[in-house]
Amino acid sequence: HSDPLDAVKDIPNGATILVGGFGLCGIPENLINSLLKTGVKSLTAVSNNAGVDDFGLGLLLRTKQIKRMISSYVGENVEFERQYLSGELEVELTPQGTLAERIRAGGAGVPAFFTATGYGTLIQEGGSPIKYKKDGTIAIASEPREVREFNGRHYIMEKSITGDFALVKAWKADKAGNVIFRYKSRNFNQPMCKAAKITIVEVEEIVDVGTFAAEDIHIPSIYVHRIVKGDSFEKRIEVRWLDSSGSFLSKDSDIVRERIIRRAALEFEDGMYANLGIGIPMLASNFIKPDITVHLQSENGILGLGPYPTEEEVDPDLINAGKETVTVLPGAAYFSSDDSFAMIRGGHINLTMLGAMQVSKNGDLANWMIPGKMVKGMGGAMDLVASAGTKVVVTMEHSAKVGFCCHDITGTGVTVAAITHAERITGVEIIKLECPGACD
Ligand SMILES: *[C@@H]1O[C@H](CO)[C@@H](O)[C@H](O)[C@H]1NC(C)=O
Repeated sequence: HSDPLDAVKDIPNGATILVGGFGLCGIPENLINSLLKTGVKSLTAVSNNAGVDDFGLGLLLRTKQIKRMISSYVGENVEFERQYLSGELEVELTPQGTLAERIRAGGAGVPAFFTATGYGTLIQEGGSPIKYKKDGTIAIASEPREVREFNGRHYIMEKSITGDFALVKAWKADKAGNVIFRYKSRNFNQPMCKAAKITIVEVEEIVDVGTFAAEDIHIPSIYVHRIVKGDSFEKRIEVRWLDSSGSFLSKDSDIVRERIIRRAALEFEDGMYANLGIGIPMLASNFIKPDITVHLQSENGILGLGPYPTEEEVDPDLINAGKETVTVLPGAAYFSSDDSFAMIRGGHINLTMLGAMQVSKNGDLANWMIPGKMVKGMGGAMDLVASAGTKVVVTMEHSAKVGFCCHDITGTGVTVAAITHAERITGVEIIKLECPGACD
């Protein structure tokens, strides 16, 4: 197709669309903008994120063209949160790895699968709000999941996802329809190509057949039905974080943070593969002892993360799971989101370090919503903590913001509904460094 509008004009009201991208990285900007023009309504949009208020899927939310979102993390979009909490939008929050695998399974003809992710949480129990009523009570609740035990562990059944259309952003396509992705923009685009009846790919360049070596092709042409070359790509960057931005030790509160960061860094051992959440965990990587090597994984599909970039190195197709601009080290590898969570779920990652709102003495972890008040989504956290064999470290500042205190960790700010993982393994160690302010 020569025009993106032409490529999407037959998407009917009520269609399920799979929309590629992670944050704003690798989103099909031109196809999304074309849906604004067709005015199609009542869409179910399957997408890891919901864009931001004025870019990406956020635009279709603003025009109320989306009826339901199936996503893992929507924290960057204020209008999304407002529509959801006021009952205007249906939202199925799905752990990121489960989302990627549901799509992968859909494309592979596997109707359902079992995963440990979400066992013992609201995802398994059901009753999570998909749609609120105006008065704040729940209009549509999520279904409970079937539980089975395999080799002494609990798993829940998740059903696959397929779409009527996939809207995908790739780097280049050849005229036969073979596709390659650039850097980190592979993310959800790759599995989505395979899981829709009609896959529409917008690319930056169309090349002649034979330009790609056969072994370099990411998506063979069989999965691609329409190709359109986008006119222009804004490729907006959500968090432009530079090498020189890391001045996190300037404020008083940062002294407390630095102590936590330094303590967390002691958990790194030589040869480890580690996944670090944004904030304190990521900053801990600055304190990895110089004589050891730690390989950093980012769940949006990078192994071998490097430092933050210089101004010249900034690339919108290269971000970490916190949507921050990053670099990679020699020997790094890129892969898709379904591959990334196979790596995580499969227990290949030695250490995961993440933040939380609340942790219980048993190691139950709450970090993804305050029912009826705030919703960010669990992102990849449920998958990361459910992986057998991965050491989980939680760093917290015990901020009073969400209404609980150091000595009252089952306090009022977060209810059981927000628990990320209740089947926490024994051997939880609570290291208290310093309690700022009200928490003394
Ligand atoms: C990391 O995990 C792998 C696979 O489980 C294991 O073989 C390896 O010894 C672990 N490395 C470290 C440093 O813990």
